[in-house]
This record gives sequence, C-alpha cells and structure tokens, in this order.
Amino acid sequence: MKIAMIGTGYVGLVSGVCFSDFGHEVVCVDKDPRKIDMLNRGEVPIYEPGLEDLLAKNVAAGRLTFTLDLAQAVADADAVFIAVGTPTRRGDGHADLTYVMAAAEEIAQAAKDYVVIVTKSTVPVGTNRQVQQVVAKANPGLDFDVASNPEFLREGAAIDDFMKPDRVVVGVQSDRAAEVMSDIYRPLYLRDFPIVITDLESAEMIKYAANAFLATKITFINEIAALCEKVGADIKQVSKGMGMDNRIGNKFLHAGPGYGGSCFPKDTRALARMGQDHAVPMQITETVIKVNDETKRRMVDKLLDMCDGSFNGKTITILGVTFKPNTDDMRDAPSLTIIPSLVGGGARVHVVDPQGRHEGEALLPGVTWNDDPYDAARNADLLVILTEWNEFRALDLTRLAGSMAKARLADLRNIYTAQDARRAGFEAYDSIGRKQLGADGA
Ligand code: UDX
Repeated sequence: MKIAMIGTGYVGLVSGVCFSDFGHEVVCVDKDPRKIDMLNRGEVPIYEPGLEDLLAKNVAAGRLTFTLDLAQAVADADAVFIAVGTPTRRGDGHADLTYVMAAAEEIAQAAKDYVVIVTKSTVPVGTNRQVQQVVAKANPGLDFDVASNPEFLREGAAIDDFMKPDRVVVGVQSDRAAEVMSDIYRPLYLRDFPIVITDLESAEMIKYAANAFLATKITFINEIAALCEKVGADIKQVSKGMGMDNRIGNKFLHAGPGYGGSCFPKDTRALARMGQDHAVPMQITETVIKVNDETKRRMVDKLLDMCDGSFNGKTITILGVTFKPNTDDMRDAPSLTIIPSLVGGGARVHVVDPQGRHEGEALLPGVTWNDDPYDAARNADLLVILTEWNEFRALDLTRLAGSMAKARLADLRNIYTAQDARRAGFEAYDSIGRKQLGADGA
C-alpha cells in the first residue's frame, strides 16, 4: 500500500511512522520546511517515547520519507490521510476546519487514479461529507472515496496505542473503501484487534462520544474526591471499590487537578457546540467543562490554605507543569491556571519538569526553572506535585522536608500518602480526596 500522510503533527507523525512499520510505503507531507528538514535529519519535533527509533528504522528500510511536495506524494497513493490541526475556533467554540478543507482541495487537484481520502483529524460530524463535496468540486472527474478514521492515541503511549489498539474505527460509504482501509490495518487485525466499520457519521461521533465520556469519568471522580475531603472518605479506596465493578472499570478513575491536553478540552467544547447547533444541548458535557475549570481553580484555594491564606512573599516549588507525564505538551495543563495565580499573588515560584521547559518558558512568565527537585525545593515554603512524572514518584522526602523553610507538601496526583509525609518530617500534607496532615488534619 502507498500512503500519503498530510500533516506531521502529533497524530500524523505517529500514524505515518507506525503505518510504515506495518510495511506500507509512507510519505509524510508538511508545509513547514523546518519540520521537514528536521525529520529528514532523523530528528523528531515532538517528545514521544520510542518514536525517534521507529522513525529511523523505517527510513533506513526505505519505507518512510518526508516532503514538502504534497502533489507528488498524493499522485500515486492508494490512500491519503488528512492529519492536519483542527484547533478550537476563536469566538464560537467550533472546530476550525480551514486546514482540513484546504488539504482536501489540494489532494483533489493532485490525485490521479482511485484514491481513498481519509480524515484522521478529529472533525465534527458531517465533515467527511463536506470533504467529499470539496474534492468532487475541485476535481470533478476524480474516482475517489472518503473515509473517517479517528485516532485514539494517548500522548506518551502513542506507539503502543497505535500498535495495540482496543479497536480501530473506520467510517466508509463503499465496499471498495472498506477494503482499502482493511488492507491498511490488516497487520493489526491479523493479531486479533477488532476493526469497527461504520458509516461516516457514526465514526465521527464515536470519537467525540468516547473522549467526552472519558472526560466525564475523570470529572466525576474529581467531584467525588472533593466531597471525600469534606466527609473523611479516601478517594483512592473509593475509586478502587468502584472500579472493581466491571461495568465501571478501574481506568480513568484517578482523581487529580483536572484534565488537560490537546484532546479532552477541545473535543468536549466541540461536542457542546455541536449539540447547541442541533438544538440538542449536551448538558452533561457542558457541565463537565465547567466542573473541570472549577477543579483547576479549586487547586489554587487548596494551595492558598497551605500557605496560611497568602502567597505573598512565599517560595513555592512546583514539580511538573505538562498536562501529564511523558509529554512536553502544555495545552490546557492545570499548571497554566495554577501557576499564574501563585505568581500573581506575589509568590516566588520554582519549577521543575523533565520536558516542559521548552514550551513552558513562554507560557509561564515570572517563574524560575530548575533541573533538580532538591535544588528547587531548598528554603521553599511549599512543595507541589502537579504532574506525576516517574522522576517524582520516588523522591527522598526526608531530604526534601529537611531542606525546606516550611516542610509542606501538596500532592495533587496522590502519589504519596499522609503517612509517607509525616514519617519524612513534613508538617503539612494535602492531596486530592484524602485526609490531610497538618494544623487541623490527622
Ligand atoms: C486522550 C485520550 O485518551 C485519547 O484516546 C484521545 O485520542 C486523545 O485524548 P491524551 O490527551 O494524550 O489522550 O491523555 P490521557 O492520558 O487520556 O489524559 C488526559 C488528561 O486526563 C490528563 O490531563 C490526565 O492527567 C487526566 N487524567 C487521566 C486524570 O486526571 N485521571 C485519570 O484517571 C486519567
């Protein structure tokens, strides 16, 4: 199979590299010459474990190339994937389809023989039909089909998710397109991974419904955690007890400072917007968006309590600023709500993150970056764990507590316990949905 992948952002690059690893001949296209240069040198512009090695392996095998030339890449492709960005449009919350439609038009003009034009970007229901119209108009004689093939990759685990997916979702309108898509994914389902073939609209909807459901699950447990704090229950035990019910499942039940990232915030907003457009308000999703924003703000109140009601003049050390571990992505990260409130309140903020500095420097003005948690925490009044990087899971808490001006720990990912903190000499410990250690705590 010959595949052209339009867009070498996160989804496009991971998908392109993995398809080439299946044995397909893949050309990845981007408009950004800097990116294409980097990729041609074997450098990966994003941080994703394993991606650089897999890329090098497939480039060496001659199956994977990178180019600025869309027309040439598309000319003899069996399938062209559109994996360009669909950011939230300013003002109205709609997904911005400018890049998708521009790509569709260019593909139409470059394609010669039968081709399947596949949308991998997350797009509102109805977009694939629009793509079909755009292509038909731009090249009326072209023999083609459109297909919807939403992506469910998690950052930091993207290659594994691609190679061992729970399912592959493909929306098509013709048997011919279904066959091409089945051939592309054959290496997977030979290993027993189910492929779900649906119509276009259902495939588009599956992506939004799945992401909104997961965002709801997280937000639900975050809300229960807030109540646990008041009634003296322990969210970890509550999550465990709930998750053992197979109908609920134990995944995505970890309480934290609120979800972030490139997908959940964007997709929940787009789904809410779609509901409004069709006069079927997505009330649950709208509430999830609101509660998640409140969850992030509630973290600021928690830290304020631990600073005796004022950030002014305090030194606060933050461990982790990316929206989750194993990524350098800062999009909609809770740190972007929390840290500016600390800086604005007059705190001196020290930050450590294994990958976040590159993006974070511009987004978090007024903080000091450190490489080492122990240096960063020296003489601090409060230590905050905001992202659960492995590097922060086995800290020498005794050493940290001993070097701080006030040994106080806010563990917003529940990776330690009040007992750990007490034993290490912390005078105060607070986490999410569990008992505190401190002035009025245990
Ligand atoms: C997500 C989806 O998992 C993926 O299927 C989709 O295609 C893109 O969006 P990703 O954004 O990479 O992937 O991250 P994910 O691991 O799902 O975490 C999303 C957010 O939820 C993070 O901020 C994370 O910290 C938070 N989260 C996740 C929790 O707070 N608790 C949990 O139990 C799980």
